[in-house]
Amino acid sequence: MESKSIYSFVFLTLAINWVSSQSISCYDCDPNNFASDCGDPVGNTVRSTPCTPDANVVNGTSLCVSAYLYVTGGTTNASGIYRGCNTLRPDVSDFCDWFKEERQGFNATLISCVACNTTRCNTIGFTEDGKAGAPSIFASSVFVLLCNALLILLLKERN
Ligand SMILES: *[C@@H]1O[C@H](CO)[C@@H](O)[C@H](O)[C@H]1NC(C)=O
Ligand SMILES: *[C@@H]1O[C@H](CO)[C@@H](O)[C@H](O)[C@H]1NC(C)=O
Ligand SMILES: *[C@@H]1O[C@H](CO)[C@@H](O)[C@H](O)[C@H]1NC(C)=O
Ligand SMILES: *[C@@H]1O[C@H](CO)[C@@H](O)[C@H](O)[C@H]1NC(C)=O
Repeated sequence: MESKSIYSFVFLTLAINWVSSQSISCYDCDPNNFASDCGDPVGNTVRSTPCTPDANVVNGTSLCVSAYLYVTGGTTNASGIYRGCNTLRPDVSDFCDWFKEERQGFNATLISCVACNTTRCNTIGFTEDGKAGAPSIFASSVFVLLCNALLILLLKERN
């Protein structure tokens, strides 16, 4: 590849990263939708959905959430992994703390929860018992940045 096109590529991926951070999309699955793929949304290329902050929340911002809910009672199988967009209220500093209280009283226990605010960042894996595990590095923008750094490094070596 020409040096120029490599720099263009680097710039483009940075630009895409920036643009997508303005309006994020999140992996979107739960026990009733793509449940079997939800554990590894990157490997299974689960759909992602563009987020729109809840119109009822003034100055709300979008977050991607990965959560494991344990639900008792009810007729449907609602326990398991939930991934998707959520709205962070401006007066809430920790989404997961807030969400935990929200869920109480619905026969649901939030086993684990991780929130993040970049596109398709809700990739964290869960163990069988619902504990949050290792994030998938390939999905993260950190990985893109590392790749770009490597490219620039290789380029410098050659010149
Ligand atoms: C929403 O944001 C506007 C502009 O930053 C601010 O003036 C207003 O007080 C905010 N409202 C709430 C409820 O946070
Ligand atoms: C909670 O579970 C009980 C039985 O286990 C059930 O009767 C009740 O309707 C459930 N409540 C909700 C909000 O689902
Ligand atoms: C709920 O899910 C578990 C595990 O996937 C399954 O074994 C069970 O049969 C399901 N129960 C219902 C009522 O669908
Ligand atoms: C995203 O999250 C980081 C840290 O969790 C925070 O500093 C930043 O302000 C957030 N950005 C937006 C747009 O909410």
